[in-house]
Amino acid sequence: MSLSTPRIAVISGGSSGIGLAMVERLAGDGWIVHTCGRDALKLERLRARLPAVQTTVCDVADRAAVQAFADHVLSRAPRVDLLVSNAGGLREVDFTGADLRSLDLGGELRTNTEGALNLIAAFMPGLRSASRSAILIVSSGYALAPATRAPLYSASKAALHSLAGSLRRQLAPLAITVTELLPPLVDTPAVAHRPGRKMPAATIARLGLEAALRGRKAVHPGPVGLLRWLLRLMPSVAEAFVART
Ligand SMILES: NC(=O)c1ccc[n+]([C@@H]2O[C@H](COP(=O)([O-])OP(=O)(O)OC[C@H]3O[C@@H](n4cnc5c(N)ncnc54)[C@H](OP(=O)(O)O)[C@@H]3O)[C@@H](O)[C@H]2O)c1
Repeated sequence: MSLSTPRIAVISGGSSGIGLAMVERLAGDGWIVHTCGRDALKLERLRARLPAVQTTVCDVADRAAVQAFADHVLSRAPRVDLLVSNAGGLREVDFTGADLRSLDLGGELRTNTEGALNLIAAFMPGLRSASRSAILIVSSGYALAPATRAPLYSASKAALHSLAGSLRRQLAPLAITVTELLPPLVDTPAVAHRPGRKMPAATIARLGLEAALRGRKAVHPGPVGLLRWLLRLMPSVAEAFVART
């Protein structure tokens, strides 16, 4: 990455929460920032605050839409220094409930997991064009131990955890690093209804971006760091701890 020319970042889901905090940080540091989301109004509000940020309406679960987003970004500059796969969502799903027939079983897998794959595949030419580039994948502490209340979300994030491990090794010869960010409960609109201690989105954004730009494998903020060690030393205690969250 050259320090003399502005660096270029693509962040999915930059109109709210952790993604928004990343957009704000990188834009403030002089990066050229592209982001996407499904809701045009949220993107408009972002542009009103940060006019230099480039926004595109795009659902990451829609492969053709992600390819069109990438083609648009790469037509302006063929290089991407940092790709952040952040867009995602969580539903609480109870398999003991009576409404399983009408339940969309693949929502989290399509958005959280396939969405990351769509982004990485579509932006690979841009990542390869930089002399050194980075991918940051936002998973979750639930990638390490599943939440009882959110089985589909936990599975989608565990898949991202595995994906990050494979891609890290595959892409190393191309000088593309892969970093996984495993946040705990973070203070964002997505979890406004949840009680409990929440880490600030700006702190999570800083930790994730610093780790990605240093090419670190993973970052386990706050209680997820403790969970990681507990899972090694006392797995049943760790799983009981997560089951209560
Ligand atoms: N908050 C937490 O406690 C927490 C903990 C662990 C992990 N995480 C992860 O952190 C990431 C960000 O979460 P957050 O809490 O910051 O959520 P948030 O405040 O709801 O923001 C989510 C962002 O992603 C976008 N988005 C959602 N689905 C999308 C899709 N299909 N295509 C394109 N954009 C999409 C949203 O915009 P639109 O709605 O307009 O599409 C929004 O900009 C997620 O991957 C989440 O799983 C969050």
